[in-house]
Amino acid sequence: MSAWETLARLGKAAAGRRILDLFQDGDRMAQFTARTGSMVLDFSKTNIDAETLAALIELATEADVAAHREAMFTGARINQTEGRAVLHTALRNLAGRVVVDGVDVMPEVRETHARASAFARDVRSGVFAGQGGRITDVVNIGIGGSDLGPAMGWLALQPYADGPRCHFVSNVDGAHIHDTLRGLNPETTLVIVASKTFTTIETMTNADTAKAWMAAKVAQPGRQFAAVSTAAERTAAYGIDPARVFGFEDWVGGRYSMWGPIGLSLMIAIGPERFDEFLAGGAAMDAHFRSEPFARNLPVLLALVGIWHNQILGHATRAVLPYDQRLSRLPAYLQQLEMESNGKRVAMDGSDLTLNSGPVVWGEPGTNGQHAFYQLIHQGTRVVPCEFLVAAKGHEPALAHQHLLLVANCLAQSEALLRGRSLDEARAMMAKKGLTGEELDRQARHRVFPGNRPSTTLIYPQLTPFVLGQIIALYEHRVFVEGVILGLNSFDQWGVELGKELALSLSPVLKGAEDGSGKDPSTRALAAYFRDHA
Ligand code: F6P
Repeated sequence: MSAWETLARLGKAAAGRRILDLFQDGDRMAQFTARTGSMVLDFSKTNIDAETLAALIELATEADVAAHREAMFTGARINQTEGRAVLHTALRNLAGRVVVDGVDVMPEVRETHARASAFARDVRSGVFAGQGGRITDVVNIGIGGSDLGPAMGWLALQPYADGPRCHFVSNVDGAHIHDTLRGLNPETTLVIVASKTFTTIETMTNADTAKAWMAAKVAQPGRQFAAVSTAAERTAAYGIDPARVFGFEDWVGGRYSMWGPIGLSLMIAIGPERFDEFLAGGAAMDAHFRSEPFARNLPVLLALVGIWHNQILGHATRAVLPYDQRLSRLPAYLQQLEMESNGKRVAMDGSDLTLNSGPVVWGEPGTNGQHAFYQLIHQGTRVVPCEFLVAAKGHEPALAHQHLLLVANCLAQSEALLRGRSLDEARAMMAKKGLTGEELDRQARHRVFPGNRPSTTLIYPQLTPFVLGQIIALYEHRVFVEGVILGLNSFDQWGVELGKELALSLSPVLKGAEDGSGKDPSTRALAAYFRDHA
């Protein structure tokens, strides 16, 4: 029997079992928590028992996760639909040696890292200045992976942000750049155009807008532009001095790119030393992922929990709930990482995927979410596996009492999801309030929590640059392992292409230059409405 078949059987058996009962096994906490350094993943509050865990590990073994992992780390072209290696791990392993097609790629990685670090230092110290003096603001123009990583990191690492303020413009909606530039002084602003391809229409349009904004006040606006891209010819054609162009190779996927020069804005904000601590955290997770047995390997375990919830039990979504306000953009970051990587309907060999693809990922920081959507998580008819993240310590010693409340809320939520509240308990509660008879029953039923809802908790000492690096690399490898088990290519993104093409074909229709006769009636009518009202 294959591991999938065993798991299908175990999935059915789990339906009649309560997670709380699994804790009768005195060893559960030892077996269902894993750690690396001082970071702990607790997955004991899931409906996975010892037999299921063994079958899940067997699944990873059958899928040959270990061989795929080695292939990735050593530069094999595992992104087969684009013919590329997948080496974002090389960006955080600066002392390493990685050979692609007989060439050690690391000297170039190190050189770019050193140039970016020197530039970041110069911007921070004022050696590199704008027309009006020291740079006060950095505007990163990019979208998707060229935005979400540094934007998420800028918020996450605010306690370390002692350089210029950073701003992030991604949307082609003119409102975004308009509202961002309003209030900034072009004479002391640095614009970073971040685009792997340097063709993305949103980014290039916003870059043009920023250039015009700067040109109105700055004699040599190009001097206050930098670029991050794999396309050196295009950055040159755009007029950006090669001294301020930071390249990377096509073996870094957009959503995996914040470790390299795409992280330049973050590097300027927190300084290259702190940025290197972030890289070190990622490298530490790489070492853990590469060497720990599956039963103690955080990314592998997190992936297996995900497979259990989505592909075996059929829970289509996954909530990421950081009890850490500074991780407020982590859910958005993970949406791209997970959904662009594993939202595929075809396996690596082109055959139809016979399993569900990766889950819908969503979330908001706690405690805010508690006052918004947790109602559904606790009492809705669909089960939403929850992933909590929390630090033992905040960065505001004077507000330690608030941090304690934050942690109490985080732990309370996973406890409530686990335990629930029975009808008897709810009835007793209502009886205490003086209700009787049918009204007591009716009111009690509304106050029942089914419980038995799965969650994991990732707990770490404090959200430092190192820990952020660990967290991001943990999720990257989790996505990788899930992709290997599902047999798909986590590193392409063909699903974003069609909409881009159609947007191009719609521009002339919206302008009235074409009648849109090839379009469906709904699209034609919407375009006509636009023309009538714009
Ligand atoms: O459209 C999707 C995508 O290609 C993402 O994968 C990528 O992160 C984003 O667009 C931005 O691409 P670029 O960095 O080339 O501008």
